[in-house]
Amino acid sequence: MSDDRLHILDCDTGVDDAMAIGLLLAEAPQTFVGATAVFGNVDVRRAALNTRSLLELAGRADIPVHLGAASSLDGAFWGSGHRVHGENGVGGVQLPNPTGTAGDGEPAPSYLVRTVRENPGRVVIIAVGPLTNLAIALSMDPGIAELVAEIVIMGGAVRHPGNATPAAEANVWHDPEAADRVLRSGARVRLVPLDATMQQRMTGDEQTELAGSSSRFAQAVAQASEHYLDFYTNVFPGRQCALHDPLVAALALDSALVTSEVTTSIEVQLAPGPARGQTVADLRGLYKGPVHREGHTTSVVLETEAGFSRRLVEALTCLP
Ligand code: BDR
Ligand code: CA
Repeated sequence: MSDDRLHILDCDTGVDDAMAIGLLLAEAPQTFVGATAVFGNVDVRRAALNTRSLLELAGRADIPVHLGAASSLDGAFWGSGHRVHGENGVGGVQLPNPTGTAGDGEPAPSYLVRTVRENPGRVVIIAVGPLTNLAIALSMDPGIAELVAEIVIMGGAVRHPGNATPAAEANVWHDPEAADRVLRSGARVRLVPLDATMQQRMTGDEQTELAGSSSRFAQAVAQASEHYLDFYTNVFPGRQCALHDPLVAALALDSALVTSEVTTSIEVQLAPGPARGQTVADLRGLYKGPVHREGHTTSVVLETEAGFSRRLVEALTCLP
């Protein structure tokens, strides 16, 4: 992979988004050039504020945060993941107020278009919230699809059940039309669905390790994770939570962890009803019948090597 890549994180900063920010700060401090905020786990202003506070906590006020979409393309959803991420998105933790203004200046979609145009073939967009900012950017300038190095998405559920509904994963469910637009754009897309992300977990012991470290960033993540771990007691046995967004950030930096990946078509279900937001992949192999699409451009990561939480703990604890 060329090492002149630049990384932009498009996030709806809740607890696991905060972990993704930390991972990028630790492992890609030079190439993590910007963040764009979107509604999702919280409203877009809160997402921008959380992002800015976390960057400043790590001493990186130089990384810009651009304010993006406040609602889904159909205007139906403005953000709310309080049940999973707490009232303010970071488990109720009061992060220090940022000194810089969160999210003022150039809107997220324009920033994405401009940065991709100015750096053809170099920009990797790591999308860990609803795909609305990217969908708007691609509508503003469809030509960026072939200029972006890669779009790496935390989204969808292929063989795994959904988490927002029985069929749909939250980031896709919160704006299925946006996800559909991005997946049809022709851009090089790597999708990391729940199939992969639900398998990588942080334990209560690792949370304690973060809390006991000398890193104020790791301590904040440990505190924010309390609510998130509580939520997951209804999902997994024992005390452990899924590492969706940090896993996707790591996969955008290198593919070392990937153990199973397929290139396939992905269709997002848009019709109202129980399947809305479902991501249907064609994994039929030999059984492939007459109905299939050629020219697949989506890589789907199905499995990654166990033990990613150790890499994450090491990354977070080396931050200020
Ligand atoms: C995704 O939804 C959000 O709650 C998380 O931050 C993650 O991006 C998981 O479905
Ligand atoms: Ca997220």
